[in-house]
Amino acid sequence: MMVVLEQYKKQLDLCDTQLVSLLEQRLEIIENIMEYKKKEGISILQSEREKQVRKLVRTQLNKPKFKDEIFDIYRSIIENSKKIQAKTLFQDNIYMIGFMGCGKSTISNYLSKMLALEVIDMDSYLTQKEGMSVNQIFEKYGEQYWRNLETNLIISMKDYQNKVISCGGGVPMREINIEEMKKNGKVILLTADPETILARVKNDNSRPLLRGKKNTKDIKELMDIRRPKYEAAADIVVNTDNRSIHEIAEEIVYQLTHFNDTMTEA
Ligand code: S3P
Repeated sequence: MMVVLEQYKKQLDLCDTQLVSLLEQRLEIIENIMEYKKKEGISILQSEREKQVRKLVRTQLNKPKFKDEIFDIYRSIIENSKKIQAKTLFQDNIYMIGFMGCGKSTISNYLSKMLALEVIDMDSYLTQKEGMSVNQIFEKYGEQYWRNLETNLIISMKDYQNKVISCGGGVPMREINIEEMKKNGKVILLTADPETILARVKNDNSRPLLRGKKNTKDIKELMDIRRPKYEAAADIVVNTDNRSIHEIAEEIVYQLTHFNDTMTEA
């Protein structure tokens, strides 16, 4: 009986040896694809790819009884392939900055999904930690208290790598925040016209600084005050007017992957 068990174990060992080797091959192919796409300027993010892989796996299944397990294993393989993609592209953090309603959270979440990067939404993180909404924090403790929370959070992220950080709109107004972000990341500025911003924020009352200012004139005024700081902080600027989430994310990834090339040419 022991002999039979030993034989099964040997078969498993053989399977694992083959699996490890195949997984290494798969991840290496991903690296090669990324390098090739980078070199040729081919679009990097593929929203359809996951579906194609699932389809292939489904058609290749010989034993349907293991379908759920195989799909589960593939979910993990795809997640890890995405992580390899992200690592091949850049090691830095991505700090998303810009005016309220410019799409920082939406784009950060999309990038996080496409490249399996962890996302930190500063507003959500801080409001959860404080157990209060931004409005409540501003009312109870004042704006400076909020700004200090933001600075402390930025400083506490100094050892982070390969994360997407969606900053609150006021973060770049403090010099120290920008200095900290530059130490371990690239700063992406998302821009939009006041009209676009108004359309995106008009039904949302979560922002104390926009209370009673939901019109293009006031939005433009505040934008004009902030623009110089935003632009000075930005490594990369991406406009979001009339563009899809995918297009915006794709441009960010393109610019990030070619950031060092541009620096060398300059
Ligand atoms: C602010 C922007 C908000 C939030 C707070 C202050 C700002 O974040 O941090 O209401 O000063 O621009 P979003 O830009 O994510 O809306």
